[in-house]
Amino acid sequence: MKNLLFLLGLGCAVSGGAAVVSSPDGDIAVNMDVDGAGRPVYSVSYKGMPVVTESCLGLSARETAIAEGYNVEFGDVVEFDEVWTPVWGEYAEVRNHYNELVGRFRGESGPDFDVRVRVFDDGVGFRYELPQSGDLYFLSVTGENTEFNFADDYTVFAIPGDYDTDEFLYTKSPMSELGEKLPRSRHSESTLIDGLAVQTPVMMKHPEGKVYVNVHEAALVGYPSMALDVDVEKPGFKSHLTPGADGVRGYVQLPFNTPWRTLIISDDARDILASQLIYNLNEPSKIADTSWIYPQKFMGVWWEMFLGGNSWAYSDDISTRPGVTDYSKVKPNGRHAANTENVKKYIDFAAESGIKGVLVEGWNEGWETWTEGRKNRHFMFDKAYPDFDVEGLERYAREKGVKLIMHHETSANAADYERQLEAAFDFMNEHGYDAVKTGYVGYIIPRGEHHSSQWMNDHYIEVARRAAEHKVMVNSHEAVRPTGLMRTWPNWVAQESARGGEYEAMGGNPPEHTTILPFTRLKGGPMDYTPGIVETDLASYGFGNNSKPGTTIARQLALYLTMPSPMQMACDKPESYRRYADAFEFIKVVPVEWRTSVYLEAEPGDYITVARQDKNSDDWYVGAITDENARKAKFRLDFLPKGVKYIATVYEDGKDADYKSNPKSYKIYEKKVDSKSEMTLELAPGGGAAVRLTPVSGR
Ligand code: NOJ
Ligand code: CA
Repeated sequence: MKNLLFLLGLGCAVSGGAAVVSSPDGDIAVNMDVDGAGRPVYSVSYKGMPVVTESCLGLSARETAIAEGYNVEFGDVVEFDEVWTPVWGEYAEVRNHYNELVGRFRGESGPDFDVRVRVFDDGVGFRYELPQSGDLYFLSVTGENTEFNFADDYTVFAIPGDYDTDEFLYTKSPMSELGEKLPRSRHSESTLIDGLAVQTPVMMKHPEGKVYVNVHEAALVGYPSMALDVDVEKPGFKSHLTPGADGVRGYVQLPFNTPWRTLIISDDARDILASQLIYNLNEPSKIADTSWIYPQKFMGVWWEMFLGGNSWAYSDDISTRPGVTDYSKVKPNGRHAANTENVKKYIDFAAESGIKGVLVEGWNEGWETWTEGRKNRHFMFDKAYPDFDVEGLERYAREKGVKLIMHHETSANAADYERQLEAAFDFMNEHGYDAVKTGYVGYIIPRGEHHSSQWMNDHYIEVARRAAEHKVMVNSHEAVRPTGLMRTWPNWVAQESARGGEYEAMGGNPPEHTTILPFTRLKGGPMDYTPGIVETDLASYGFGNNSKPGTTIARQLALYLTMPSPMQMACDKPESYRRYADAFEFIKVVPVEWRTSVYLEAEPGDYITVARQDKNSDDWYVGAITDENARKAKFRLDFLPKGVKYIATVYEDGKDADYKSNPKSYKIYEKKVDSKSEMTLELAPGGGAAVRLTPVSGR
């Protein structure tokens, strides 16, 4: 690892009370100061154009408040430049290069604190650093007043601010019109923030397209998550911290550093996708030996429950008590999917397809309590239903070279999960499970916390830490949206935390949705989006599910490139993959970790085209998606090594394809290309294309 540290005067212009720190390339500048009332303020410009105008910094606690009456002094600007090696991801190496400036704010009435600002070529991160001083040992934080006031009326791609969930579709609207445009309906079991608020990461575009900005946070540790209150007049945002069960937002022991508040900034939308700023602001891996962490594709006894017909629960008997009831005496409902024979079918198919993992949901006692609302939701994490043969399946999978993936649906009973955690991970270690999908559906019982509160944020990290002790990889669903913590805990390989592919079986996702997620949710970390639907006619299963997926088949293949994740599902059923075996061929071969990535075309809400090089071979892959409009993706293949001939295998929408009327039309063809070639991919409305590029010599 290269690790350079320079002390420079560069970029720091101290004038009066203010100081400016610029990005290494000079394009982004951050100004820190105090205003006339002694309030700490900052502003941000890009290529000389104001982006964030004067915006206040502040914090309130029961004990004290950071508000006004401050003076500020500055240290020197320090340049930092290193290259680090992620365990998995879009790049085999990541450069972490920034100029840093610390503002030391000293007040008459409020506590002393520092603001550390890091300015990268692709954006800005800043955080509050609160020392222990005098008799102030802790803070009971009641609110944070970090403002993000914008110089123009940016168009935002936003979901409503909610303490519990991110499972919404995006609204595209000028900030000034969010009041009328943002839907204000609560998502099933969630708490929508009163007043007008949006969730981060929020994606923004200058009204004349001059600049793109993404606002989020990095390294959410020991603190509540931040949503943004919207001021349509300014227009601007102000931080809104998730309250804990007792109303206090966060209890912090001093000294304490808040998470980083982040702005990814560029005049080219592709740079927003390529940015690794959120990871760069997180701590390096706390896991010394990461050799046991491996990216993988997996199938699952899962989609059939979403299609209807089959159930997670073994019985329909809601008087059953997990851990107490003798389930062998309970009448089965005959629809239990996680039964030994069915699981074997998935293992067989995964083995013959070279897919490493098989997730099984509904294997354990407790699913009958799922329907009991807030009362008694309780699962056992080391007790299987009688028709799921733990040892037999362990052996069967091992013989076939497949790994079963554990499922822990906690039903938001996080305290119960913590009590069982050691037993749960021991059970996994004993039975050869390397990865777990966790779930937090519903209200957090019994504490009444929110999914994004400080207590829960501590819980998710504790689960990742304890999992690492057991060499277990974690893929969490319904947890707080990610903030790059996967750099620190690389065994926390994926999260859901957005409206995922499962909604294709619950009304459908409009095609635009997956052209926005990489600009928003994915900036915090990989998403377990669960792509891979090839049987788009869900009604054909005969389970009474008439939902219409917002996709063509070819688009589903492209999602393996545009929604990168080290834990990537092939969500459809084996029988469907057999039916569309030629399309499934792409899912079989597409890698899940990359040497490098090149974003070729991008516009939030409209389209994304990306090329990625396999980490373990000379193959390249291209994925392209569009929104509801047909589109030609046109690009040069100059990312290929010069002078090497490649065979391109193209999976493209058919001429007559359309996500609404003809989603199954696709074509597969080959052609010879090299670094001088240009490629045009025809994308149908709601469609996509996927390309595999293999050196001719490697054939
Ligand atoms: C919601 C998750 O997103 C889904 O993947 C899972 O199957 C169900 N909860 C049941 O745990
Ligand atoms: Ca669009």
